[in-house]
Amino acid sequence: MALPFSFRPPVIAHRGASALAPENTMAAFRLAREQGAVWIETDVKLTRDGVPILMHDDTLDRTTDGKGPVAAQDWADIKKLDAGSWFDPAFTGERVPHLADFLRFALDHNLRINLEIKPCPGRARSTAMVTLIETSKIWPADVLPPLISSFDVEALTIAAQLHPEWPRGLLLEEWDENWQDVMAKTQASLIHLGSDALTQERIALLHKAGIPVLAHTVNSLPRAQELLQQGADGVFWDNPSEIIKTL
Ligand code: G3P
Ligand code: MG
Repeated sequence: MALPFSFRPPVIAHRGASALAPENTMAAFRLAREQGAVWIETDVKLTRDGVPILMHDDTLDRTTDGKGPVAAQDWADIKKLDAGSWFDPAFTGERVPHLADFLRFALDHNLRINLEIKPCPGRARSTAMVTLIETSKIWPADVLPPLISSFDVEALTIAAQLHPEWPRGLLLEEWDENWQDVMAKTQASLIHLGSDALTQERIALLHKAGIPVLAHTVNSLPRAQELLQQGADGVFWDNPSEIIKTL
């Protein structure tokens, strides 16, 4: 099927090369690029003072040496945290990236990016607004736009209002029988579905509706082979070289 853009190789580095470097850090993004990934996914959320940072969890505890909710601390404090040593002492000194750092890196290296809007509780509106506005300040209009995704329908709806021309992916963990309603509401054009919920029939159904399908997060070569044979358009992966070298 004709895609609005290409996933070649059909691999999206999940939080960077997050199997081999601390997730959502510049080290993980650099490694993903070195491994040959063209697409990189990352999670965007806001500090207390509204600065867009790259982090998966709502709390600092797992991926930094800080503690407590991200939404309770300012950027001035979060930017001093160590975001590498939890993963491996070799990465001591890695910092929590500002969204702008990632955007500039992607632009410098001609990478395609998937910004997942990952709001802390109650912050969907502000997180979507800041992500879209900050990105549009940096991202040139003549470069292929970022793919915006979210599990959060409000965040996607706001993204659609602010940048209707940027592609949006609806993230689902499980199959949702009401997918057509949600896609219409968010004007999303792709579905990013949990790998276990994908079947050949569902891929065919979505393709018939003109919707590309990305599978997250696969990390199994036999499963990836099956999904790609069934027509999945891309697979999220923690160690991109593992699959890229087989394609
Ligand atoms: O975008 C795919 C994947 O990142 C969604 O789940 O929890 O890893 O952000 P999560
Ligand atoms: Mg994510």
